[in-house]
Amino acid sequence: MNSPRIVVMAGSSRREALSRKVAAACIAPLAAAGADVDLVELADHPAPLYNGDLEVESGLPEGIVSLQQRLAAADGLLVVNPEYNGSITPLLKNALDWCSRPNPADRARSGGAVYAGRAAAVVGTSPGALGGMRVLFHVRDILGYLGMQVIPQQLAIGKAGEAVGDDGCLRDPAQREALDKLAQALVDTARRLRR
Ligand SMILES: Cc1cc2nc3c(=O)[nH]c(=O)nc-3n(C[C@H](O)[C@H](O)[C@H](O)COP(=O)(O)O)c2cc1C
Repeated sequence: MNSPRIVVMAGSSRREALSRKVAAACIAPLAAAGADVDLVELADHPAPLYNGDLEVESGLPEGIVSLQQRLAAADGLLVVNPEYNGSITPLLKNALDWCSRPNPADRARSGGAVYAGRAAAVVGTSPGALGGMRVLFHVRDILGYLGMQVIPQQLAIGKAGEAVGDDGCLRDPAQREALDKLAQALVDTARRLRR
């Protein structure tokens, strides 16, 4: 049987985003846990702020259709999210909302179908000490509402500017071990839930 495919997605598209660096550091642990990893850069999937009039007039943006296809091809999702005022970034919320909309031309790979019954995990990042601890609960709530099976393991990476070494891995052995365990639990859950 093929390896479970896991999409990794950071909630910021900023060029020097700390969350993008941590997302990249998640690739090796997921691969070691047996995943086929698809690193999504939200900058590659541009979309205007969701507005129902836009959807009625123009349908789904091209960048959202292609993101839905990547999510639909995956068995699980790992979200690495910075904290904005204790919550989710508008970029990530907008992408999740757009992707939750049905595409009449491709119902199987759009709308709720891209989330429901798939595995998910959340990692928070912050330049501060708490590592985005507060955002974790918001994001897991949103993903759960979308029908994803969010695993209990989670990780808040504080001082994220110094967290990733030159080798692209987390520097702190305790954080590395926690990420390895999260990655294994996500891959195992994705494999179990696979349709
Ligand atoms: C609107 C806004 C709100 C923020 N709120 C928080 C916050 O609640 N907690 C926190 O730790 N950092 C907060 N920050 C700082 C971000 O964690 C910091 O800018 C971080 O580098 C953004 O993530 P990125 O590097 O992945 O782009 C906030 C930044 C912005 C722009």
